[in-house]
Amino acid sequence: MSTPRIVRAAIVGCGSYGAEHAKFLSAYPGVKLVAVADIAAARAEEFKQKYGAGYATGDVAKIWADPDIDAVWICTQHHTHAPLAEAAAAAGKNFFLEKPLALTLADCNRIVAAVEKAGVIASSGFKLRFFPAVVAAKAFLPKPTLTMAQVIDDHWPSDFWANDPIQGGGNVLSQGCHMVDTVLHLHPTPPVRVYAAGGNRHHPTRDIVDTASITLTFADGAVATVAVGDCGVPPHSSKFALQQSDGAKSFSLFNRLNSLMTREDKKITEHPAHPEEGAAVIDAPFITAVAEGRPAPVSVQSARRTSAVVLAAIESIKSGQAVDLTAAPWAAAMKCPYSPLPWSVVSE
Ligand SMILES: NC(=O)c1ccc[n+]([C@@H]2O[C@H](COP(=O)([O-])OP(=O)(O)OC[C@H]3O[C@@H](n4cnc5c(N)ncnc54)[C@H](O)[C@@H]3O)[C@@H](O)[C@H]2O)c1
Repeated sequence: MSTPRIVRAAIVGCGSYGAEHAKFLSAYPGVKLVAVADIAAARAEEFKQKYGAGYATGDVAKIWADPDIDAVWICTQHHTHAPLAEAAAAAGKNFFLEKPLALTLADCNRIVAAVEKAGVIASSGFKLRFFPAVVAAKAFLPKPTLTMAQVIDDHWPSDFWANDPIQGGGNVLSQGCHMVDTVLHLHPTPPVRVYAAGGNRHHPTRDIVDTASITLTFADGAVATVAVGDCGVPPHSSKFALQQSDGAKSFSLFNRLNSLMTREDKKITEHPAHPEEGAAVIDAPFITAVAEGRPAPVSVQSARRTSAVVLAAIESIKSGQAVDLTAAPWAAAMKCPYSPLPWSVVSE
């Protein structure tokens, strides 16, 4: 393998998760942090000082116009994802867009169309796929029959932007997407049906869904249930947990998906826990993809599929009916390049 070239990076959105990426990008040998931008210019300036970026700006258009930038990390509120991704693609910039892809199917479609037209390398922030224990679990049990998964957090303040219906979409769209994405990733065939119950249990001043019990059926007949809420982290299984069985084998992922226990022939094996790596686990494969001109580690098509399934679950909660994912408008979003293992594992 040839030595990868240096990726010249910029960050748009200098907030809390932008800082996670900045910490990694400022220290990673394959990257030069050229610029940081935020509509709040003072925040960009703070990032420049703290992470040693080349320059800071409050004018995001400067990033799109800068020929010395190869890839842009977009770490902003969800309603800005589609316009920023479109601008990045139109400028020919590769980009890493934080999760969820967007809050509506129309916005997801805009992002996918812009990426396909421009031919840029574009990834989304579904980092759980790359956790070493999740990679090991997928290899151990490639064809699950039954999945039980959860993302159950402590209470999110009602005035948190992620609970704003326009900016964030609420807990189920904003955070539930992480676990729905992981479940879709761990099943080898596409989802065909979703039924969900739930609603708004804790945030009466917000028009959002904060609690959901989502049931998915896959094309091969497998089923999954995903619980999402901000009603209190379960003490034993932790915020993120997932278990699967296939009739012969089973596993439990717990400790925020950093720990794995497997069971085969009634023998239980507890594997060593992995330390949580933060943004590095997804940034490193994206940087390699850009440096080597390879496909993105998390395709925007697969991130659209994840958002579409969560949106269909919310539709099901509101209508009380199951949603057929093989029918319009969902069917087109269920089609995406399928990667049997995380990109970093299949690359040579
Ligand atoms: N992958 C993960 O585990 C994870 C964890 C937390 C947050 N996130 C995601 O990261 C993204 C950012 O979340 P956050 O918690 O850092 O938010 P934040 O509010 O802390 O930061 C967002 C920043 O974006 C800036 N901004 C908003 N619109 C802009 C625009 N049009 N141009 C430039 N800057 C703009 C804001 O001024 C703010 O500084 C979201 O998509 C969120 O879901 C991902």
